[in-house]
Amino acid sequence: MLALNKGEILTIHNLRYMYYLNPKIKDLHRIFDQNERKDYLRLDLNENPGGLPQDVIDDVLKDITPQIVAQYPETLHFTEVLAKFLNTDIEHICLVNGSAEGIRYIIQAFTSPGGRIVGVVPSYFMFQVYSEMYGRSFVKVPYDEDLTMDVDKIINEITPDTELLILLNPNNPMGNCYTEDEFRRIYEAARVNEVTLLVDEAYHYFYPKTFIEYALKDKHVFVTRTFSKLFSMAGCRLGYVVGWPEGIKMVQKMCTPHNTNAFAMKFAEKIITTPSILEDLISKFKEGREYLIDNLYKHGYRHKGEAGNFLFIEVKTDAEKIVRRMKEEKGILIKSYPNVGDFGTCLRVSIGEKAYMEKFMNALLDLDR
Ligand SMILES: Cc1ncc(COP(=O)(O)O)c(C=O)c1O
Repeated sequence: MLALNKGEILTIHNLRYMYYLNPKIKDLHRIFDQNERKDYLRLDLNENPGGLPQDVIDDVLKDITPQIVAQYPETLHFTEVLAKFLNTDIEHICLVNGSAEGIRYIIQAFTSPGGRIVGVVPSYFMFQVYSEMYGRSFVKVPYDEDLTMDVDKIINEITPDTELLILLNPNNPMGNCYTEDEFRRIYEAARVNEVTLLVDEAYHYFYPKTFIEYALKDKHVFVTRTFSKLFSMAGCRLGYVVGWPEGIKMVQKMCTPHNTNAFAMKFAEKIITTPSILEDLISKFKEGREYLIDNLYKHGYRHKGEAGNFLFIEVKTDAEKIVRRMKEEKGILIKSYPNVGDFGTCLRVSIGEKAYMEKFMNALLDLDR
């Protein structure tokens, strides 16, 4: 309502009509990537370059009926299958359209405008993007020079006015992980200060240690996971949040209606109910990683990052130039990454099965001289 002083007459000229745009969105820097990548060997976004075996895809497609396509997705059956896979019940799980969505809901629901969020950097960039989008204050805990993480530095930032602490297990991109003892200390500090703890386990399976039992047994701990990485389903968009039932209910309230894709659930069910598919994905990944690491050693390359599905590689010439020439001359997409300790700017390369690693290694030897 407009407050007028005595005697003041409101004329239409006093009103300012203006379209509204949230300044936080206006000023937000985001890259809207619509690059065509399908004709390249894609080692740039930590996907599985080979994907699921064609017979698995064909098998699942047989189950896709007109009714499944026409109907809004039903989530109960798949949530039960997933709960069984995780040894829990459906009250502890919220399905999301990729774990990035779950992360966003947790930030929206469990922090306030201007609220303090603590996270290590460098890390998955969306934590900072969402913090900025919603006007939260993101406090960065940097790695040490040698790329190790001093757990006390994290604990020191867990203050009573902190609302959310975000950890990655293992961390992307650095690949470091927390021991049980380190995690326990961080968790205790968060609990004492009543700080919600979010553990992003997107790279679980590439590194099997998990802290999911904290999210299943305790309150105010969430774990997010994805089907995009080892499960090779990035194109379908499926992730999930694990947490205490009341917390999960809050995340569910945030979800857009019918946010879980019906096809994604079909593929995910096939994978988690067929142990041989998962075993095959893991063994092909391990073979590819072993090949790449052996050959990097053999040719005098240093690498870092053991815990995810990617490696940092120190090059002998110019990383940026190699990234460019890989794309233009070899049809291979990789990324350069700045400030990786004493490597400086180096390559970040996703690991896939051996045939792809051979292609990358041969290209590297050709271009890096
Ligand atoms: C650490 C981390 N968390 C979450 C995600 C989001 O995964 P998605 O939204 O595909 O489930 C990614 C994707 O690269 C990631 O690297």
